[in-house]
Amino acid sequence: MSPHVRKAAVVAAAGTLVAGLAIYGSAQAQEEPVQPHDPPVTQQSTLRAAAEASGRFVGTAINDGLLSDPTYSSIASSEFSSVTAENVMKWEAVQPSQGSFDFSGGDRLVDFAQANDQQVWGHTLVWHSQLPGWVSGGGFGADELRGVMNDHIAEVAGHFAGEVAYWDVVNEAFNEDGTRRQSVFQTTLGDGYIAEAFRAADAADPNAKLCINDYNIEGVNAKSDGVYELVSSLLDQGVPIDCVGFQSHLIVGQVPGDLQQNIERFTELGVEVVLTEIDIRMTMPSDAAKLEQQRQDYETVVAACTAVPGCAGATVWGISDRDSWVPDVFPGEGAACPWDENYQRKPAYDGIVAGFGS
Ligand code: G3I
Repeated sequence: MSPHVRKAAVVAAAGTLVAGLAIYGSAQAQEEPVQPHDPPVTQQSTLRAAAEASGRFVGTAINDGLLSDPTYSSIASSEFSSVTAENVMKWEAVQPSQGSFDFSGGDRLVDFAQANDQQVWGHTLVWHSQLPGWVSGGGFGADELRGVMNDHIAEVAGHFAGEVAYWDVVNEAFNEDGTRRQSVFQTTLGDGYIAEAFRAADAADPNAKLCINDYNIEGVNAKSDGVYELVSSLLDQGVPIDCVGFQSHLIVGQVPGDLQQNIERFTELGVEVVLTEIDIRMTMPSDAAKLEQQRQDYETVVAACTAVPGCAGATVWGISDRDSWVPDVFPGEGAACPWDENYQRKPAYDGIVAGFGS
């Protein structure tokens, strides 16, 4: 087994142990006689405390442009144990032209994370979107594009080596029917580009956990079957892959009923699962009933992760409805985040806390 798979297996066991300790710890407390003055069990004070009580991390995508906002940075620093680069580590940002690298945004995120004892989630090394034209339209042959891809991975993962805990090495490689997306990497390099990308990332930073990430793979379906078969094949080839990211861009009232089962089947392969980009959108305007359903949905999603030892954590894709990508892409939809337009906690926040078992 690749060291990465061994690492994933250890993580899964550790997750069980930590979860067990958490349960065990509460069992110990129950052996003590309950004193009448014992304070009532109260809800964890932050998402971070709730997640850590279940032996997991909780993260958010970070908008680099908002880090200077005191309200935003206060929530980002106190509520989360993991931060994901929403845009600043994508190819268009870090290598906008061939051989010209800009790590300033990623370095700001690393500095923020280190100041707040948070892990950094690198997003993303190889993706068909937000890819500069010199790559997508470069007219490269296979050997040249292979070199371009491997050089990018080596430079970026190498720059952040030791600072990034997880990388989305390959993002959104599949179509809805489980076939490969015909990105420039797929069409030029063939099926093997994914294994090549993971090997290049491992060479650049052997200590980072390496993930494949996609959307609409939260339930058992043709797309998640395609990812499942790929991950199984990569593991058989000894490719260093540690985790699968279920992006979890969902719709209120439509959480897949087999999410936990799907998480379980991937963790049984020996990789971690992480819910990497959770938001749960609704048709606007929001109302009390939609917000309550959203609370239930956030709890269901996070609880599905908490129920499976190999599910390492959950990350929301943005803090406030005000800053979400959703309205720009889905006109008439929004209110997808745990905080509202005024950075006030929504019922969804309580759903996340409950989902972590607190
Ligand atoms: O940087 C330019 C800026 O110079 C320019 O003035 C401005 C004009 O609109 O655009 C800026 O680029 C924007 C970029 O975010 C950085 O802010 C793009 O227009 C905008 O389309 C882009 O949106 C991002 C989107 O990915 C692009 O696909 C969202 O912020 C980001 O949340 C979203 O995240 C993706 C994940 O990476 C992958 N999974 C799906 C998820 C949602 O689409």
